[in-house]
Amino acid sequence: MPVAYEPHRRLWLLTGPSTSYAVRLAADDGVRHVHWGVPITLDQAAELADRDERTPHPAASSFEHGVGPEELPAEGGPRFGPAALQVRFADGARAVEWRHTGAHVEENSLRIDLADRHYPLAVALHYRLAGDVVERWTAVTNHGTTGITVLRCDSAAWTVPARSRHRLSHLVGAWSSEFRLQRADLPTAETVLTSRRGVTSHHANPWLAIDDGTAGEEHGEVFSAALAWSGSWRITVHRDPSGRAGFTGGFGHEGLTWTLAPGETLETPAFAGLHTMSGFGAASRSWHLYVRDEILPEAQETRPVLYNSWEATGFDVDEAGQLALAARAAGLGAELFVMDDGWFGARTSERAGLGDWTPNPHRFPRGLAPLAAEVRRLGMRFGLWLEPEMVNPDSDLYRAHPDWVLHMPHRRRTEMRHQLVLNLGRPDVAAWTHRWLDALVGDLGLDFLKWDANRPFTEAGWPGHPDPDRVHLAHTRAVYQIMDRLRADHPGLRIESCAGGGGRADLGILRRTDQVWPSDNTDAADRIAIQHGFGQLFPARVMGAWVTDSPNVTTGRVVPLRFRFHVAMAGVLGLGGDLTAWTAEELKEAAGLVAAYKLVRPVVQQGAAYRLSGGGTLTGVHYALGDDHVILAWCPSRPYGHTPGPLRLAAVDPVGVYRDLDTAATHSGAALLTQGLPLDLPAGDHASALVRLKLVKE
Ligand code: GLA
Repeated sequence: MPVAYEPHRRLWLLTGPSTSYAVRLAADDGVRHVHWGVPITLDQAAELADRDERTPHPAASSFEHGVGPEELPAEGGPRFGPAALQVRFADGARAVEWRHTGAHVEENSLRIDLADRHYPLAVALHYRLAGDVVERWTAVTNHGTTGITVLRCDSAAWTVPARSRHRLSHLVGAWSSEFRLQRADLPTAETVLTSRRGVTSHHANPWLAIDDGTAGEEHGEVFSAALAWSGSWRITVHRDPSGRAGFTGGFGHEGLTWTLAPGETLETPAFAGLHTMSGFGAASRSWHLYVRDEILPEAQETRPVLYNSWEATGFDVDEAGQLALAARAAGLGAELFVMDDGWFGARTSERAGLGDWTPNPHRFPRGLAPLAAEVRRLGMRFGLWLEPEMVNPDSDLYRAHPDWVLHMPHRRRTEMRHQLVLNLGRPDVAAWTHRWLDALVGDLGLDFLKWDANRPFTEAGWPGHPDPDRVHLAHTRAVYQIMDRLRADHPGLRIESCAGGGGRADLGILRRTDQVWPSDNTDAADRIAIQHGFGQLFPARVMGAWVTDSPNVTTGRVVPLRFRFHVAMAGVLGLGGDLTAWTAEELKEAAGLVAAYKLVRPVVQQGAAYRLSGGGTLTGVHYALGDDHVILAWCPSRPYGHTPGPLRLAAVDPVGVYRDLDTAATHSGAALLTQGLPLDLPAGDHASALVRLKLVKE
């Protein structure tokens, strides 16, 4: 039974394959945290609950008065930490005082119902076990006759055990440098991770991990959590001087308020958490399984090798140019051809045309159907770049509907990349957006959309709406609904999430997309760190990775073709260069590397990932699926000419024998574990290797 109950202590215990989670109702009917960690029995949970019950609150000094760790600390009473729930009632009262009204247990889930002791506010705390991942979310309902102002409604507050030290891992970035992993001591303070941008953001990602400072890739206790939301969000991580720590998070950034109308329920997105005793690598593998089994719409499908025209042409797309690229791409083994920006309206630069989603008649006088047909004749699927949430002021759409964008009275409309954001929270704008997308996908039989969003929200108002901050919820939910409807009506359609690179990667968008574009930076040397951070939460099968031209368009770095491929092969391989300029020799080498990727693709896309580090600049990743093992190793530079250290493998059986499928050499598992994998790296910088091993004897 995954959810057990002990009525005497009003204690619930949720147990997955290697995790338990326990909560109880305190005497004041508040929901208190009891345990998150290794599996425990109900008796053991009772012992922990009793211990918490006996802990003196208040403590010796009135200043230390507190209520202990809570599952959704509401503002009010002796609570001075970050509130997970803040409301204001019509008479100005702000605090919440709990009354337990019931609980509901289903096979894998628990709902605890609470209400305010006086005001007509009901709150449900939801828990769902998905393997070892605990999904948590909150629903608040107004049962009264006047509005209740919601100042904060987090999905969940999480408590980690008190330790003498805590370390926080999280992701930071910017355009062109997303998903860079930061790992540093958690200060005795409140640390806010947030996006105020209306999208998940390049700058912070709603994922984190906490350990006690001693965990490594394959050992140590790690707590990790990720929020399934693609708009603005906030997670506050806190640690107090006595070593108690936790975090609370949910949608919306500070300062937003929502009015809960009479009879209305507001439900938050899920905040998922997991615990492991086996290090950051195991935490990532658990996330990858969760994304595969619980989140992705088509998790078992093999992601095709795509070609994308952006770096080859910029905005200069036309039928002849695209056909030339398509012929080359097909020759290299691409399976999906995606035409990027520039094909519609007056979109010959970033200054105009967004919103006018009909093919540019000068560039595509016959429309897009002949291009789509030729791409398919070449054996590839056909996809298009789109930016459905945006509009250039210089467009027919904006001229007709200037009121459709996010704006505020008497405020400037800040343009970024010469564009404004459509308010998809408006039902008319959302319906129009769905209509043109549905027609375009249907008419061309589109197989793939690269759904982009190239600017954050500013002046996020909704003139005329009684509760204008609703736009932050309504816009994101409209994006979800449009994607869901398109997928339901066009079952073959696959979607890539892009927001000027990796600005929208989260568990919410992944429920309706198939892959993510992690960064506009396609420089393989930079990409290693971006992919390292991205992979903390997301599996290889959603990580788009193109091989582009050298020198790289963004960084100017010159990187050999083989290295560019070996880095991109760690995810969903794509091609993004100007193939018409590649030499016959480059095309031949590239075709060989695409073919090599197709051989290892099942293991990369479906296998378990182990991050490797060989000292110096040598890093890599090892994918394991059954008896098959694929190792990609990268050495971007070789300081002092020293030979990079061995790459020790973690996921091999010490008594097994492994054959290198390319050289026929055999290695014992013991040697791979202790001495490492011998790598035949070419001399010089940007050296890389792809090794395929098979377990031949146990
Ligand atoms: C964004 C995307 C790029 C490309 C351009 C087109 O920057 O991240 O890949 O599609 O838009 O304008």
